[in-house]
Amino acid sequence: MSDSIGVIILAAGKGTRMKVPTPKALMPALGKSLLDYVIEEGFLFAKQAKLPCEVGVVVGHLKEQLIEHLQIKFPNSPLKTAIQKEQNGTADALKACFNDHPHFWDHTYTLVACADTPLIQEADFSKLFLSLKNNPKLVGVAASFHLHRPTGYGRIIRSGNGFHIVEEKDATDEERKVTEVNSGFYILKTSHVKEVLSKISNKNKSGEFYLTDMFQDNYAVESICFEDGTPFLGVNTMEQLAEVTGELKGRHQQKLMVNGVRFLLPGTTYIESSVEIAAGTVIYPNVTILGKTKIAENVVIESGTFIKDSLIESNVHILANSYIEESQIASSASIGPMARLRPGTEIGQKAKVGNFVEIKKSKLAAGAKVSHLSYVGDAEIGENSNIGCGFITCNYDGANKHKTKIGSNTFVGSDTQMIAPVEIGDNVFIAAGSTISKSVPSDAFAIARAQQVTKEGMAKRFLKTKKSE
Ligand code: UD1
Ligand code: MG
Repeated sequence: MSDSIGVIILAAGKGTRMKVPTPKALMPALGKSLLDYVIEEGFLFAKQAKLPCEVGVVVGHLKEQLIEHLQIKFPNSPLKTAIQKEQNGTADALKACFNDHPHFWDHTYTLVACADTPLIQEADFSKLFLSLKNNPKLVGVAASFHLHRPTGYGRIIRSGNGFHIVEEKDATDEERKVTEVNSGFYILKTSHVKEVLSKISNKNKSGEFYLTDMFQDNYAVESICFEDGTPFLGVNTMEQLAEVTGELKGRHQQKLMVNGVRFLLPGTTYIESSVEIAAGTVIYPNVTILGKTKIAENVVIESGTFIKDSLIESNVHILANSYIEESQIASSASIGPMARLRPGTEIGQKAKVGNFVEIKKSKLAAGAKVSHLSYVGDAEIGENSNIGCGFITCNYDGANKHKTKIGSNTFVGSDTQMIAPVEIGDNVFIAAGSTISKSVPSDAFAIARAQQVTKEGMAKRFLKTKKSE
């Protein structure tokens, strides 16, 4: 039978040290779960490996959440999911995969990775795999690296030609001083796994079955010390989560810069890995961009802006401190400063949304302007219409939302309210200070405010003189 590889990713652990109820494998880093990174790279490796390769993932603690997540994230994928009933340690987790999917025993090689090492990449999988494949005398290889602060990791204890791994909890003071740590990333001949897995005991301080016990001084195993340990950084605590998130952020921004995106101060910007940005776009300090956001060429995004799940076309200018969610902005539009676009907003070409303007579930056609201090909700504003300062759509009657429709080339004077539902035609002129409660046809003038009354000399009746103290 020809050689093949089983990649098994362990994701069943409780993640107790994170101190939060979310399963650790699902903790987010730069917009994706830790587990997603490892699975994606596992699949990449499987695709590029010259041997048939299969990927499995072991879930356990809060498994329903993990299974649901995997179904959404990797639909119709050949991923095999196994269940570890109780969290009795990493060796027990590996066993769960073989129990649920016995054909994993048929793979020549078993590659093990942990869900809490999201910096691992396909190239690391390949390097580790080749280290065993090219050395047929060995039965297993563990990846190790050096850390100045090795706390929390298993230590590589070398003796003669061999080595074994001692967990932090079980280590002597002397062993704890060792800075070469176990990455939790291994390649083994499956025949070796079969021979030793069931013999592993749980007689240690944790009472768990340690996968690391597959490596013993007298086995034909090797530990390859990688010069750069960054790909193997593990996440057990919030501090480590922040550290790997920073690393992922750096990688993503570097890719964006290679593609022509300019950051004024990259260290201050947070952009999730799913965000796409085209060349020529300039990003000022302290900008946050999340989710499925896509930004085209030559967009300028000024400081303090927050953008989530939005589409932004070329040459848009977003001025400082704007907040944009689930919105679409067409080319050459201008937004902000301090504008808020809420879900369902569509801004047309060359349209303008100015300072202190909130827009919700509304469409501004090309060239329309809402320049100052306004609320536009459930509305449509036609091409080149100009909405004055302090405009409000009164879209909510306490129970239901209603629509406001304004045609093209219409002028709405400042401090106007529209009591929805209401429809205003094209080329309409609405006088400032109007409360519009009835529809206005095209080409009409509408005014809805009380007549001004001026009484000469009467002010003194109303002006109160301050009492002296
Ligand atoms: C493990 C290694 C340690 C290594 C470190 C690298 C063991 C015993 N120790 O320690 O030598 O330096 O990784 O990051 O393997 N898991 C299960 N079921 C369980 C327990 C854990 O699936 O019952 C999964 C976890 O979800 C996680 C992975 O196995 O993805 C590692 O578990 P974790 O508790 O993080 O082990 P570490 O203490 O980090
Ligand atoms: Mg860990």
